[in-house]
Amino acid sequence: MKKTIEDFDLNNKRVIIRVDFNVPIKNGKITDDNRIKASLKTINYAIEHNAKVILMSHLGRVKTVEDKETKSLKIVSERLSELLGKSVIFVPETRGEKLNKAVQELKCGEVLLMENTRFEDLNDKAESSASDELASYWASLGDIFINDAFGTIHRNHASNVGISKLLPNGVGFLVLNELTKLSTLKNNEIHPYTVILGGAKISDKIKLIDAMAKEADYLLIGGGMAFTFLKSEGFNVGASIVDLDNISFAQDILKKYENKIILPVDVVVSKEVSEDALVKTIDISSFDDDDIGLDIGPKTIEIFKKYIDMSNVIFINGTMGMSEIDNYKNGTFEIASALTGKNAYIGGGDTAGQFINFGFKNYTHISTGGGATIEYLEGKELPGIVAIEEK
Ligand code: 3PG
Repeated sequence: MKKTIEDFDLNNKRVIIRVDFNVPIKNGKITDDNRIKASLKTINYAIEHNAKVILMSHLGRVKTVEDKETKSLKIVSERLSELLGKSVIFVPETRGEKLNKAVQELKCGEVLLMENTRFEDLNDKAESSASDELASYWASLGDIFINDAFGTIHRNHASNVGISKLLPNGVGFLVLNELTKLSTLKNNEIHPYTVILGGAKISDKIKLIDAMAKEADYLLIGGGMAFTFLKSEGFNVGASIVDLDNISFAQDILKKYENKIILPVDVVVSKEVSEDALVKTIDISSFDDDDIGLDIGPKTIEIFKKYIDMSNVIFINGTMGMSEIDNYKNGTFEIASALTGKNAYIGGGDTAGQFINFGFKNYTHISTGGGATIEYLEGKELPGIVAIEEK
């Protein structure tokens, strides 16, 4: 068992909490603050136990100096202040005098958020390559390290694994909750277990498809990746996205698990991808060469719903079509709706954001991890967890 925040006396200690505040921001506004909300339990616990709370997070990927303009955590500190009901001290740097002084002056019960850890990637990828020098500097700012950034737990970076090696450490409530909930999906007694996978490309999810085909009773495939499977079965899929490098992988999987894998029988197509393109629903055997498949059709939705209804547990990762465009969101909306109130686990990232934006949140678990959830279910070791001390 890994140590948790509850295993430490936080009183008067400088407690560094690595959170994942990598939230989507559009036109200067946070469009989904689920990850911030999910961190509150740990932050409030540290405040209530009289800690000096130092928060670290990344936001997006920082490759150029210009990226710094759109990837500052300042806006997140403002939202966090609202959610905590107390003002958060934002320090607009990742190292230096201002940060040292702010940490020195931090009082018990106060919360400080440092600037985006990945600003350090402009310094020879110091954060993402887990620079020892950077990890030692950040560790020098605290007495205890708590990793509560599940979304980043599959990364070996200075701000998670690096600091863990240097300070007494444990996980926070968010990470604990993710591990407890997601471990249910590895339990043998969850059958009938249905996995619904979507998203554009097979290449991002090959290992997941493989692992889920083994473990699940039914694997329903929607989204862009369905077209690679359909093409591998000999269908003309027009101008739909196809992962040419993975056609034979799709063929092999279909052959091996033919009774488990369910593909769309009808799809929504357009000749171009846009808000005002003409859309029509066609059977999968009726593609014109210039048709682009962009959502699952009504017959497929009904079939997928039947599998959902007969399942004990359902896990979904990926959207059923290009759901960010109104024309192609119906499949994702209907599946999100059918999953409400069910024993459903929503696998993070864009899928979760989209479901929440539809106004649905009544699921057994909405994961805060995207890639992290996938790697966990693939059975990979998660460096951020490995680095945490055992009890
Ligand atoms: C995520 O959104 O999946 C996490 O915050 C990790 O981000 P990353 O893929 O840029 O490391």
